[in-house]
Amino acid sequence: MAYSETKVVLGGLAHIPIIIGFFYLIRRQYSFGAMLRTGKNALSEKVKSSPAKAAAPVKAAAPVKAAAPVKAAAAKKPHSDVPVNTYKPKAPFTGTVTENYSVLKEGAIGKVQHITFDLSAADPDFKYVEGQSCGILAAGEDAKGKPHRPRLYSIASTRYGDNFAGNTLSLCVRQLQYEKDGETINGVCSTYLCNLSPGDKVKISGPVGKEMLLPDEEDSNIIMLATGTGIAPMRAYLRRMFEPTEIEKHKWNFKGKAWLFMGAPKTANLLYDADFEHYKSKFPENLKYTKAISREQKNKKGGRMYIQDRVLEYAEEIFTMIENPKTHIYLCGLKGMEPGIDEAMTTAASAKGLDWSELRPKLRKAGRWHAETY
Ligand code: FAD
Ligand code: A2P
Repeated sequence: MAYSETKVVLGGLAHIPIIIGFFYLIRRQYSFGAMLRTGKNALSEKVKSSPAKAAAPVKAAAPVKAAAPVKAAAAKKPHSDVPVNTYKPKAPFTGTVTENYSVLKEGAIGKVQHITFDLSAADPDFKYVEGQSCGILAAGEDAKGKPHRPRLYSIASTRYGDNFAGNTLSLCVRQLQYEKDGETINGVCSTYLCNLSPGDKVKISGPVGKEMLLPDEEDSNIIMLATGTGIAPMRAYLRRMFEPTEIEKHKWNFKGKAWLFMGAPKTANLLYDADFEHYKSKFPENLKYTKAISREQKNKKGGRMYIQDRVLEYAEEIFTMIENPKTHIYLCGLKGMEPGIDEAMTTAASAKGLDWSELRPKLRKAGRWHAETY
């Protein structure tokens, strides 16, 4: 082959990665928009299907090496660099309590504490992101003389921690208490956590979980449905979105709409309420905050007001948001709320001519429905 011909051929080959990339972008754009209508899932296809297949017609003419960089970039799973299990339950990190204070107001039911641990002694670093959980190993032994099994708790702070220094982790813990045979039973780990004092040492494992992570896109819309301590991950999200020092630190400038639905038995039980009211007053275009106060407010049927009643009340707006592929829904708190939320979503969806039993798995597959209940 003459020198000039070689140059022409090589020049042509050099464009192949660009062409592959171009076809890939078109395909991705098309399939994402079509997801809600067709049930095909653009996001999971992006991860699961081989990008080499998507680029097949071009690949046939292309040298194998030219397609390789495109494949590597497209195959990377979302959140693949989020840390998990840095500290396993068998080899936990020992953190030090720095704060432990009540997040309830006068007249509230029960005991709920905000507890912060210093992680600065961790080696390797105990890094985590918003939406992850950690394991706590309560001191002492169980009835069989064995160490207590770890209990999971959602992390309530952002990756920068409440002090923004990136070396603490906070939890929001309700003490489990119930009556049995006329006796008050206290939950092992929640009681241990709620009674800690600054300076106490605590075994912590994790971080764990990728179910509740926030999307990377600054213009996402985030609908949050929380009951009780289910607010913990939402507090981390809301701080990430609206706390001024957080915004300065991470350069992630949330531009979407956030909507928090919070369920609590009494006004005095609304957790972090003043912070959320403050964010709402500072960012009225970006944050809505709707409360369901079960023992003070009544639903339409005269029963306790639960968040699913609020979902029904705002069904039209919620579903308009869900139709937007940039909207994610997060559900956290009591396991018992899931059937109620499903029922409300079914009713709300059918008013829009949609079938929730079909739509929910699609949202989930697309990574837009995030639920963690306990
Ligand atoms: P235990 O001593 O383990 O007692 C619990 C057991 O008591 C139950 O398994 C049940 O057998 C029994 N029991 C409970 N209630 C009753 C009842 N009414 N009547 C009879 N028996 C009963 N909790 C938080 O406070 N904050 C969080 O952010 C949080 N996040 C979590 C995240 C995840 C992913 C998960 C899975 C759980 C989360 N939890 C959270 C719950 C937490 O892990 C513990 O389950 C909870 O604190 C109770 O643990 P305990 O050791 O105090 O209770
Ligand atoms: P209630 O206890 O009045 O029935 P907390 O964890 O602070 O107790 O808050 C949990 C909130 O969730 C309470 O307002 C509680 O109401 C409410 N709740 C209880 N059961 C359900 C359910 N099945 N669906 C939705 N909310 C519920």
